[in-house]
Amino acid sequence: MIATTVYGFEDICARELVSFGAKILQIMDGKVVFEGNLDLIYAINMGSRTVHRVGLLIDMGDFTSLEEIKQKLSRVDFSNYIGKDCTFEVRFKRFGVHNFRSIDANSAIGAVIHSQGYKVNLTQPDVSFKGWIHGNRFYFCLDTTGESLHRRNYRVCNHPAPLRPTIAALMSMWLSWKDTMLDPFCGSGTILVEGLWERLRYPPNVDRKFAFEKLAFFDREYMLEIRERLLEGVSNGNFRAVGVELFKKHVDCCRRILRAAGVEDKAVCVHGDGCMYCQTFDGSWIITNPPYGLRISSAKKATALMKRFANVLRSHFSGTAIVITPSNQIENLLSDCANIDKRIIRYGDLWVRVYRITL
Ligand SMILES: C[S@@+](CC[C@H](N)C(=O)[O-])C[C@H]1O[C@@H](n2cnc3c(N)ncnc32)[C@H](O)[C@@H]1O
Repeated sequence: MIATTVYGFEDICARELVSFGAKILQIMDGKVVFEGNLDLIYAINMGSRTVHRVGLLIDMGDFTSLEEIKQKLSRVDFSNYIGKDCTFEVRFKRFGVHNFRSIDANSAIGAVIHSQGYKVNLTQPDVSFKGWIHGNRFYFCLDTTGESLHRRNYRVCNHPAPLRPTIAALMSMWLSWKDTMLDPFCGSGTILVEGLWERLRYPPNVDRKFAFEKLAFFDREYMLEIRERLLEGVSNGNFRAVGVELFKKHVDCCRRILRAAGVEDKAVCVHGDGCMYCQTFDGSWIITNPPYGLRISSAKKATALMKRFANVLRSHFSGTAIVITPSNQIENLLSDCANIDKRIIRYGDLWVRVYRITL
């Protein structure tokens, strides 16, 4: 199987996959290849907080031409994977230089599957085959997820720059926080929810539809059994999360999101200035996503705020803070007094830094 995740956080994703019983075979940019029983498809889709998509690997290997991939996939009996009335699409992504385009691969492999009696549907297919070509290596899989797993169902109101929930969960896992966590720039509260869900082991995607429901081997009873097992694993641990947000409309949205996620008894959203709040915070754990100055505020204001935040950490905070930011400003401001680990991650079109800063 192959799981896609956040580029730069693959090791933590792999650790989570192991906790489900997976055996890791390979870690690549934004992907983890693993093996395990088919029940992992249900468990990871419903329970993972770091994975975007789970693909059932049909074939992978080295190749010299598109024709060779086509030959290899011609030997696959697709009725082992999909029901006979299923419509399908094929989507390849290529990395490297080749003498064919991604759409050429889509149509060549689409023709192979079509020749076994399946109809193509590029707008609303029942099942989707995904392929990746990295240099002279290809991976071809059947998507078991459908809509990406990073879309959680608690997003009942909008914020101009919400953090991707899988990144928030990965930040929480990188910190392994205890007791109380603070997000001084909490916006709509994604970090509060994902941080609490992660610590309490709440499975993020137990109530949604999945692409695996259309697959030939889907067993609803077994899926429901695994769902129960995941829910039984939820702990009622003693964790609390505090968020601070400057703008009332975002505070209102954050409070609605905390209710929708079922964590309103463990999290609060305070209306105020995050830097001022840090001065009196006596906890040891911070996870935050300060304004970038791209979609909200201005670059100048974001720089001034980061300076205030770094000063307040320096003079009032003792503990570990995880900070996601596109610039190296905080690293420069605190390098003389803090222990700093850094990851470069891919977030949409941006390269972003995630710092773990211990003071
Ligand atoms: C990048 S957004 C955080 C988004 C959040 N992680 C989410 O998923 O919704 C930064 C937030 O910090 C807020 N903010 C800006 N200055 C602030 C300050 N001095 N104190 C508290 N919040 C502030 C902004 O209004 C914005 O909502």
